[in-house]
Amino acid sequence: MSKTIIANFKMELSLKQSLDLLKKYKKGLKTINTNYNLVVCPDFLCLAYLSAKDEKTRVFPFNLGSQTVGHLKYGALTGEVSAFNLKDIGVSFCLLGHSERRQMGENNHIIREKIKTALKAKLIPVLCIGEEKKLSKSKLDTFLAKEIRETFSGFSQSEMKKIIIAYEPVWAIGNKNPCLPKKADEVHGLIKEIIFKKFKTNIKVLYGGSVNGENAKSYLEWENIDGLLVGGASLSWKKFKKVIN
Ligand code: PGA
Repeated sequence: MSKTIIANFKMELSLKQSLDLLKKYKKGLKTINTNYNLVVCPDFLCLAYLSAKDEKTRVFPFNLGSQTVGHLKYGALTGEVSAFNLKDIGVSFCLLGHSERRQMGENNHIIREKIKTALKAKLIPVLCIGEEKKLSKSKLDTFLAKEIRETFSGFSQSEMKKIIIAYEPVWAIGNKNPCLPKKADEVHGLIKEIIFKKFKTNIKVLYGGSVNGENAKSYLEWENIDGLLVGGASLSWKKFKKVIN
């Protein structure tokens, strides 16, 4: 099964910078052979801009993802974007529950609704979960079980089969202090076990948090690590190329 690597541009770039970077991705990917399933998540404005281009320019050697979606199909949700509109413009993945959105007030209840809506729109939801501070093993087990229970209550096995989880310990995001690969593999194993016990299905778990060209390989070698979610190192083609190489 090919591993998935997701680039998350967050709100780091101007529209011009995002478009220039995507051009570099597109050109650069022609020159390297990669078996990874690549997903790029620029901001909404960039996604809309890309969709307005003619069909020939709209072909990319990666999938497009959004960084969130609104929790309703359509409705009075000022500032949100419908998963259905995103699907219409060629988006196929969406990040949900990123810690930076949780810090702005998103909770498991709303994230659950967002996942449901994304599934209805036929987007692949990538749920981000992770503890804020380093925890002992038993506390981490309890934390992850609670997140999974609250987020996926009432989900069916067939819904779970379409979902990806990204384990992103908050303490490891945006710094030079990533979770060690062996530890990440252990936590992924635990997440998979909790999901399997509850839903009798296997799920892909990606790792995110200070991944870069130097450490990417050491994560991808582990069995329970099905891919990576990359923030900072996705903001330059040179750095991202190192991650996927
Ligand atoms: P980082 O961000 O790679 O810069 O740590 C990851 C993320 O927040 O998704």
